[in-house]
Amino acid sequence: MREVKKTDFNLRDTNVDISEITDGIYRISGFSNEFGITFNQFLIIDEKPMLIHTGPIGMYKKIEEKIKEVIPLHKLVYVSFLHFESDEWGGMEFLESSDAKLVCSDLSSKLNMMGWYNVPVDHISVWDNDILKIGKKRHFKFIMTPHVHHWDSMMIFEENTKSLFTSDLFIQPGNNKPIISEDISESMINLYRGAGIFASEKPVRNTTRRLADLLPNMVYPMHGSCIDKSLFSKYTEAIMKNDFGYSGILLGQRLETIIS
Ligand SMILES: [Fe+2]
Ligand SMILES: [Fe+2]
Repeated sequence: MREVKKTDFNLRDTNVDISEITDGIYRISGFSNEFGITFNQFLIIDEKPMLIHTGPIGMYKKIEEKIKEVIPLHKLVYVSFLHFESDEWGGMEFLESSDAKLVCSDLSSKLNMMGWYNVPVDHISVWDNDILKIGKKRHFKFIMTPHVHHWDSMMIFEENTKSLFTSDLFIQPGNNKPIISEDISESMINLYRGAGIFASEKPVRNTTRRLADLLPNMVYPMHGSCIDKSLFSKYTEAIMKNDFGYSGILLGQRLETIIS
């Protein structure tokens, strides 16, 4: 048996940076030595600004400070998380300091937003191909991506800049530049194998094909660097060619259970 201790992932000491990736799209990122990955949030400015991911609970206050370098917090109108997990959505305390409206997938809504004690129920749920315009420039299309890696997973495509927000797909380890300038797709595959976040390759590959057809100019994963269109095919090819589904390892620990 293991003793369970309350943790905040020690992320309160993490340095958090902000950088503008594309016109009005900011990456707010902190690197965790403990996990060896960055945690990225994205702030998109238009008439009704949106934040994608609130970040983990230990890091949220620093993320909030970076948002305030761009806009006053009360100007934030939407906050979206792409699946219900603590790094995407652990900073729920933002709801105490903001009037922002939560946007999540219909599955997140039904499974999580309406079924937990003290979890906010005031939210907007979206389905495949729904569009949300946050102003004249930024139009979000929601893409349901079940089982990549969670049941309730979705992704967001901003149609005018062709910006694709993929959460835990196309993630890479390390603390590299905001936009990657080399092909480190092998590290991405090894990260998937070591973390065991995908049950199998099939739904990931089907989703990857659909995303590649969108011809994104920039891909914004939640961990690691952004990937521009000149390198994106390297990462999609790596997903098509390599096996990375769950093989008995979960967050680096082997589970001695027979898998077939
Ligand atoms: Fe996740
Ligand atoms: Fe994540």
